[in-house]
Amino acid sequence: MKTEKQMALALQMVSGYGGEFSAWRMPGTDPAAYTNTDSYVERAKLAEKGKFQMIFIADTPVLNNDLGLQTPSFPMDPMLALMAVARETKRIGLVATLSTTFNYPYNIARQFKALDVISHGRAGWNAVTTSDPAAAANFGAQVASRKERYDMAHESIQIVQALWGSWEQDAWTLDVEGGKFADMDKIKPINLQGQYYASRGPLPIPPSEQGQPVIFQAGGGEKGLELAGSYASGVYANPYDIESARLHREMIRQSAVRYGRNPDDIKMYAGFMFSLASTEEEALERRRQLMSFNPDEIPSRVSYLGSMVGLHLSVNSVDIDQPLATDLLKRAYPSPQDPRSAIALKLLKQGLSVRDVLAHGVINYHPVVAGTAVQVADFLEEWFLAGACDGFSIVPDIAHDGVADFVEQVVPILQERGLFHKEYEGETLREHMGVPYQYGRTGIENQ
Ligand SMILES: Cc1cc2nc3c(=O)[nH]c(=O)nc-3n(C[C@H](O)[C@H](O)[C@H](O)COP(=O)(O)O)c2cc1C
Repeated sequence: MKTEKQMALALQMVSGYGGEFSAWRMPGTDPAAYTNTDSYVERAKLAEKGKFQMIFIADTPVLNNDLGLQTPSFPMDPMLALMAVARETKRIGLVATLSTTFNYPYNIARQFKALDVISHGRAGWNAVTTSDPAAAANFGAQVASRKERYDMAHESIQIVQALWGSWEQDAWTLDVEGGKFADMDKIKPINLQGQYYASRGPLPIPPSEQGQPVIFQAGGGEKGLELAGSYASGVYANPYDIESARLHREMIRQSAVRYGRNPDDIKMYAGFMFSLASTEEEALERRRQLMSFNPDEIPSRVSYLGSMVGLHLSVNSVDIDQPLATDLLKRAYPSPQDPRSAIALKLLKQGLSVRDVLAHGVINYHPVVAGTAVQVADFLEEWFLAGACDGFSIVPDIAHDGVADFVEQVVPILQERGLFHKEYEGETLREHMGVPYQYGRTGIENQ
């Protein structure tokens, strides 16, 4: 069977351990994976074996976790992690976040273009504005208004793209006999001056096999949509259900049309987390074990679960290892404030204990499937065929075995169902994503 369209897969790498903060304590995990670059390289190689289109490393320049209890959310440095991966892989795309607020466009352009050239056209930049006050404080700044941040982002991306296109594509002559390394008539300053950023250029880096890195965007409401529609070829999104995912995807596509682009040239990847095992019960046990490492978090999770279903729940008022009493459940209703509430209530009504409902990941920041490879594949198939997304940014609960299990167990099912490719279609990230070659600024390419 072959469906018309096939999904794309991005492996989201957190800080070397997986999506769950207590993964570092699981047997088999290297507790020092944070500083062990091999952990990134090994997982990227596995993902490449599974024909993943890309790896994605989110980043905010801040330490925002209590390291007494949790691992960091981000790697030591995403660009250096990608550089290590670039040297050890051949096909997989390499995407990282870099803030448009706290980096000069010239630095962004240089780092990503160098990665793109070194990796033979596999780099992507997730351009985000960074709204965390603690991150701003690391630069001696405060978080600017959303308008200002997004105005800066527009300037940043336009300057970065112009720098990327500042060599005409045949400027690098490498004429050894004639003694002409490059044709300076074809390497021109860009002379862009904005309100926040400016750059003269040119950038001293030639085109890559995909012209220039792919631009991604993530989050940020109306202004984020504008940014995505204007420049992005990929969007990372965090929808919790099919309906909101479809709506978000449609809005992204419409935004691209508003900016004169083909809606098929912008792809949305939905965040998704999984815990895989040979039975659902084993997968839940894996998640119960993860939860057990942080018992102090359980009271707040129980009371939050209560607020999701309109009940006052606490570890003192209910036995969390039992299903909720029928009379309590009769009064429960899903909170309209939290799109995850309906799933939480459904599981409670199925008679699962409070602990097991939590173990299903109902208050995780991505939808979670704790179950078998078939259950995971079913979830991805349902979302994809419903038009909820163009692919998934998947986060294993525990990276050290989760990536291999997904590649060995879920990928073959998706391939068998015709939902996922069996071989890379091309060499570059643009080819993997099915988005066009680009050189220079969007709208005025090949200037
Ligand atoms: C899927 C997804 C991934 C994101 N990744 C990052 C990231 O890596 N780094 C970051 O600073 N912000 C990230 N963000 C945050 C957004 O860029 C944005 O700052 C946030 O949604 C707040 O919106 P605002 O920028 O309009 O204030 C992400 C958001 C989403 C939805």
